Amino acid sequence: MLAPTPPMGWNSWNTFGAEIHEELIRQVADVFVEAGLREAGYTYVVIDDLWESDERDDQGRLVPDPKKFPSGMKALADYVHSKGLKFGIYSCAGTHTCAGKPGSYGYEEIDAQTFAEWGVDYLKYDFCYKPAGADAVTLYRRMGQALRATGRPIVFSICEWGSNEPWKWGASVGGHLWRTTGDINDSWESIEQIGFSQNGLEAYAGPDHWNDPDMLVVGMYGKGNVARGGCTDNEYRMHFALWCLLAAPLMIGCDVRNMNAFTHQLLTHKGLIAINQDPLGRQGFRVGVHWTNYETWMKPLADGSVAVGLFNRDPQHTGLINVAWEALGIHDRRPCRVQDVITGEDYGVFTRFFSTRVPPHDVVMVKVIPLHG
Ligand code: GLA
Repeated sequence: MLAPTPPMGWNSWNTFGAEIHEELIRQVADVFVEAGLREAGYTYVVIDDLWESDERDDQGRLVPDPKKFPSGMKALADYVHSKGLKFGIYSCAGTHTCAGKPGSYGYEEIDAQTFAEWGVDYLKYDFCYKPAGADAVTLYRRMGQALRATGRPIVFSICEWGSNEPWKWGASVGGHLWRTTGDINDSWESIEQIGFSQNGLEAYAGPDHWNDPDMLVVGMYGKGNVARGGCTDNEYRMHFALWCLLAAPLMIGCDVRNMNAFTHQLLTHKGLIAINQDPLGRQGFRVGVHWTNYETWMKPLADGSVAVGLFNRDPQHTGLINVAWEALGIHDRRPCRVQDVITGEDYGVFTRFFSTRVPPHDVVMVKVIPLHG
């Protein structure tokens, strides 16, 4: 299995867009090691769109933009690998990429071969400029098979924005993850709209096949390619906790070279990452909504305990949010220990339910551990 737990890494798009070059990618790889991101589990350094030249070479091969990547992709992949990390790249199932560079349509085999020769470990595969009459399943299957034919293990990240329900066929064409929505941007509205709409897709996720509600905007603070006003720290915490509960791929989107202490702490939070990477691989789902804005979500864990997210979507008011054992499938009278995943605090042993105050646009995540007797 290439992705037994949700892939973790960094992708250039959210912050850098077109402003990518080999020095940036090397610096990101360095920071992965120096700032403890690698140790926290982040592995993939992924270059998104706009790494390509406008034309293929005379053998039909994709060519990296020589101004941005003068040493070529093989050398860059070697560098990333030398740091104990994995190297990811981007292409598109249509005739052009979303930003207008050459797409892989009709070149699937040669592109897969090129990527394998460069040492690519992860391919994000987009859906712009689809030729008339070609359907998503066929296009993604073509690349899935071409990747497999190279013999190199390459994680296949399907990016067709959920338009053709890829959760139903993504795994069968060789996909390890698939986007479920349109593009995220750095705003509360975007996080909220995407994150809370994932309920109902949980049956389609599991080891080696994940729903992908798009990359993280944690730590962007309104700067970069998809910045739309930015978010507060509370909002980023809620965003990260929700993505962890959703067993979502954790692809960092901020400039990791300039993370503040809060961003660093959140992105490397052991407890939250353990929930995301739990080996059972279940995706969290909603178990209750109170007063419109208070949501309770659960994620069953491999050790028999349950991660519970108490989310407050209200912009102004602190809410008293509760979770009843009944909603978790635990008997009313069963004593359960409740521990705060984020602060580490042990709240003690409870029966029937647990409730706590949650600030506006924030989350409390607890682990509910059923006890015997
Ligand atoms: C699409 C994808 C984004 C990004 C851009 C690049 O919009 O959904 O994640 O890859 O293309 O052009």
